[in-house]
Amino acid sequence: MLDRNRLRSWAVIVVLALTLGAAARAEPHKIIFDTDFGICPQDDCYALMLALHSPELEFLGITTVAGNWSLEQGTADVLRLLEIAGREEIPVYAGADMPLMHEPSEYARTTYGSWWSDEAPTEPPGGFAEKQAEDAGAVEYIVDTIEAHPGEVTILAIGPLTNVAMALRHRPGLAGKVKQLVIMGGAVAALPDGAGNMTPGAEFNFWVDPEAAKIVLRSGIPIQLSPLNVSRKSSFSQEWFQRLVATETPFTRLIRERGRVGWDDADPDVVIHMYDQIAVASLIDPTLVTTTELYVDVDASPGIGYGTSYGFTRIWPGAEGAQKMQVQHELDWERFIEMFIERVAKPIPAHP
Ligand code: RIB
Ligand code: CA
Repeated sequence: MLDRNRLRSWAVIVVLALTLGAAARAEPHKIIFDTDFGICPQDDCYALMLALHSPELEFLGITTVAGNWSLEQGTADVLRLLEIAGREEIPVYAGADMPLMHEPSEYARTTYGSWWSDEAPTEPPGGFAEKQAEDAGAVEYIVDTIEAHPGEVTILAIGPLTNVAMALRHRPGLAGKVKQLVIMGGAVAALPDGAGNMTPGAEFNFWVDPEAAKIVLRSGIPIQLSPLNVSRKSSFSQEWFQRLVATETPFTRLIRERGRVGWDDADPDVVIHMYDQIAVASLIDPTLVTTTELYVDVDASPGIGYGTSYGFTRIWPGAEGAQKMQVQHELDWERFIEMFIERVAKPIPAHP
């Protein structure tokens, strides 16, 4: 029979544990949002809208990189989105204008993306932003911010990993001070739905800059990888799109005006995948995805495998130095899309 004092001690321990747990959960993630941004309907735009409406995330800054669009276009678009969101206080740092080594081939110029373009950016919706990017570059910002907040910063990387790789190369020892990396990128053929989307094996972000992806995945930073395997578990239909734009807010107006690539009125049942949105959501609520721990490495050799990511339960010849990471491959789509719509369609919160 437990005496009264021992029961009281147990009660104190339980209350303390619950309090500490709640306090830990309440602490928002300090994030650097690294993106190859494009204004809606680009997935990076939807992902940023979700992140801006999520109190679980504390924006330290946004860094831009060439990928879907040129660096100039992506930077101009994200500055304008922050104005539409009333979040001009978030600093934006322009990063790499080109990948580390990849020179644009005819295939690159004619298949998808305009990371290689040197054309002047087109006007974002409502015109170019008043807000300007900071004078410092993305690499300098990433290094300085991680150094200033060792062990506290999560890098949300949803484009080619050029900026992150350059920061790691610029400052030896930096990797040990990054709390975690959440990366949208790659495709793991060893798991279901693991084909590439740029070549048979390579996903776009890793294909644009395989050398950077290899550096970052081998860095030893704790990584949550959100590859095409989990993207392909999403199913964004016209019905969900109409629910998203049913209310009137600056975000939903922009989404409605910009429409949704891939919709085909002749085929109203077409569904579209979500990519960056899932990577962001997995940081907000990790229970939305299921992960498997795998070694993941990237092929940076010229040839048919350029940019292909491989995941395996043990090291294989040529992958010496590869690191283990959490690889997302299942998604609770219904819970995800309900959260996404509830948050993105909400009136824009006053900045806390
Ligand atoms: O392959 C999908 C990824 O490539 C997404 O991040 C999309 O925005 C593009 O960058
Ligand atoms: Ca992206």
